[in-house]
Amino acid sequence: MKWMFPLSGALLLALLTVPAAFAADVQGKTLFRADCRSCHVDGGSAQDLSPADYLKSEWRDFFANDHHQQQPNAWKGISAKDLAIIQQWLIDHAMDSDQAATCG
Ligand code: HEC
Repeated sequence: MKWMFPLSGALLLALLTVPAAFAADVQGKTLFRADCRSCHVDGGSAQDLSPADYLKSEWRDFFANDHHQQQPNAWKGISAKDLAIIQQWLIDHAMDSDQAATCG
């Protein structure tokens, strides 16, 4: 019966990580819609924007260096924690990701 321990460990890990990854994905999308799509939408005050507009490296660079220079005030009310979640979600669905998303 010893052989079952590693197996059940792997199963438990899968059961725990899949819903956690799914919850993070939903949270990223929700925050992007609330904090970014408020302006970045067709007919909005800024260009329509979706994760697949940029490469993963471009999103990393944008969050690390640009910090939304074109409209610095727009990010003032968004917490660093939420920005990190949004950044990860944008990278996960970037143009060169395996789940590129064209809308939020
Ligand atoms: C208050 C309105 C507003 C909010 C909120 C906002 N932006 Fe912007 N953003 C702008 C404006 C205005 C520009 C200038 C160019 C344009 O119209 O897209 C811009 C430019 C950008 C650009 C570069 C140009 C482009 O559209 O590709 C990116 C990338 C961007 N924003 C990402 C974001 C992200 C990510 C969020 C949420 C964390 C966000 N913005 C929230 C107004 C906003």
